[in-house]
Amino acid sequence: MVPSHISLLAPIFALIFLLSMLLPTVHAAPISIQPLQKRASLNDAHTGGRGTFFFPGLGACGKTNGDNDMIVAVNQAVFQQFRDVICDNKSMEVRANGKSATVQIVDECPGCGPNDIDLSPAAFKVFADESVGVLTVDWNIF
Ligand SMILES: *[C@@H]1O[C@H](CO)[C@@H](O)[C@H](O)[C@H]1NC(C)=O
Repeated sequence: MVPSHISLLAPIFALIFLLSMLLPTVHAAPISIQPLQKRASLNDAHTGGRGTFFFPGLGACGKTNGDNDMIVAVNQAVFQQFRDVICDNKSMEVRANGKSATVQIVDECPGCGPNDIDLSPAAFKVFADESVGVLTVDWNIF
């Protein structure tokens, strides 16, 4: 007759074996998924966005700015994902109409799409007269 402790241990060893097979699968899963996801990075280049202007006041970073400051508001998704580093002191280079300008990011723009930015009047005037209203802009945060 088989001793009773062997029949008790067999399922436990079977379970440990099964768990050891599962563990590497669990750890490997996120690695195999990663190449399929496009993680937004703060330094991604943005092209063909809408560049509008607004009259700055108290911004989402808690700083107060005026029309003559070279500042910009970025779309809400980027702002909220990188709020701390943006509000610490982050600038972007904006290019439009063959010109470029460096502007500090101090606010979020709820109406902006992923490639859109909202500039102060001073920053907008680097590229065109305010009467133009909307620019086609390329920009990247640095
Ligand atoms: C913000 O960063 C720029 C360089 O990107 C630097 O010239 C400037 O002094 C910084 N301002 C503050 C308040 O730290």
